Amino acid sequence: MTITIEQPQLDVVVERKVTAGGDPAELVLDGGFVVPDANAFGKTFRDYEADSERKETVEDFYRVNHIHQTHEFVSRMRAEYGRLDKTEMGIWECIELLNEFVDDSDPDLDMPQIEHLLQTAEAIRKGYPDQDWLHLTGLIHDLGKVLLHPSFGELPQWAVVGDTFPVGCAYDECNVHFKVTKRLEDAGLQCPYFEENPDYHNPKFNTKFGVYSEGCGLDNVLMSWGHDDYMYLVAKENKSTLPSAGLFIIRYHSFYPLHKHGAYMHLMNDEDKENLKWLHVFNKYDLYSKSNVRIDVEKVKPYYMSLINKYFPEKLRW
Ligand SMILES: [Fe+2]
Ligand SMILES: [Fe+2]
Repeated sequence: MTITIEQPQLDVVVERKVTAGGDPAELVLDGGFVVPDANAFGKTFRDYEADSERKETVEDFYRVNHIHQTHEFVSRMRAEYGRLDKTEMGIWECIELLNEFVDDSDPDLDMPQIEHLLQTAEAIRKGYPDQDWLHLTGLIHDLGKVLLHPSFGELPQWAVVGDTFPVGCAYDECNVHFKVTKRLEDAGLQCPYFEENPDYHNPKFNTKFGVYSEGCGLDNVLMSWGHDDYMYLVAKENKSTLPSAGLFIIRYHSFYPLHKHGAYMHLMNDEDKENLKWLHVFNKYDLYSKSNVRIDVEKVKPYYMSLINKYFPEKLRW
């Protein structure tokens, strides 16, 4: 079944809004979504230089991530996890399983994942009430983080979370922590972590296009392995009826070099360019809905169960 979706409103209106308390420090984006100024630690979102409690954890995370995500590693992970022979379970079961984890790569939030999933989905639902596929995409986009769980191989955080990037071609300097930070420089480290990745020195992989060609389509590009690509494989192979924009969001939502900085655009085809518009919409909700405000799970569960039954009618293979 093919589900057609409208294109998102692109000319986003951004205006200052004075809140009830008279605080002008909130921005209103499209859909009436209020973008807060600060994350759960009172800092700017995705500020990797901010001196938050989690700074060093995040920095160390990207060091190992950039060193170990090679073309060979990704190929091996895709082959293994693409078999979907780990278990069978429904979407909601998976959400409950995830509830035990906190994401080490995230400088903005340190609360259980179910909160983030529901905050994202509920914020989208307010902004785009008619796009139920986008609500469900919000709910499930991070479920691939079950890779951290013992029954899924208990992969280390660097192989599950964090920003993603293509492997098999040169690393763009827009990648987070591409340049060495002051703290690591002081510790005697001179070069970007990517220089310690063997692919960096391999002439097959270290040119602009590497093993790819202009406009080849992101579907043909191997992305650093993690929860995005895994959940994409699960949704696609289980024949979800989510529209292609939903699958695109799931696979590339951590691909910040592309959706934030416009890097790697030369690998996109026309369908990717259309889907990227929805990813831009989604990203605001994924990023800025993170807060310490709790959602009443039991109250919203029936709505999301109805979406799960609509877009994933069968029990899923993982
Ligand atoms: Fe994610
Ligand atoms: Fe997320």
